[in-house]
Amino acid sequence: PRTIYLTRHGESELNQQHRIGGDPPLSRNGKLYAEALAEYMDNENIPDLIVWTSQMQRTIETAAKINAPKEQWKALNEINAGICEGLTYVEIAERFPDEFAARDQSKFYYRYPGGESYQDLVARLEPVIMELERAENVLVVCHQAVARCILSYFLDTDAEDLPYTKVPLHTIIKLTPMAYGCTMECIPLPI
Ligand code: G3H
Repeated sequence: PRTIYLTRHGESELNQQHRIGGDPPLSRNGKLYAEALAEYMDNENIPDLIVWTSQMQRTIETAAKINAPKEQWKALNEINAGICEGLTYVEIAERFPDEFAARDQSKFYYRYPGGESYQDLVARLEPVIMELERAENVLVVCHQAVARCILSYFLDTDAEDLPYTKVPLHTIIKLTPMAYGCTMECIPLPI
């Protein structure tokens, strides 16, 4: 059976500062993950592997060392946090307390002013998921919110739980679609 490999980008400079959004480069740890990921994929020896990234620096840099053809998808970009881009959660709570509370009330449906909701993200990802259904072996290098939506589609989790799924950094998730459902294996890569 074919395998879908899914990972977040390596740690970025904004991850280090606990800031969301933006288009930052990888941190030193993130670069080490890019190397570990390339080595892991090489050892897996996957026939006709293709690698999909978003159009953000951090996913492109994470995939750069992998020896396989790559495609960039704008639809794989991270959720747009609108007026909260570049802020920490502490800053969001201070500057926009009503927004912070509203998101906590209904994280799936909450739309950042000038940005997106998880519900918007699910709609934006529909063409990617259609292609993923048809594709053979693919590695998708994306972002936390995007990975949550893709996982929720393949694992059939509820919309309310989707925004809380834990998708750790520096971990490869292997999805194997079966006749009914999908098996999942998580492989943390030491860096
Ligand atoms: O910047 C976005 C994060 O990857 C998603 O985190 O939806 O839990 O705030 P959150």
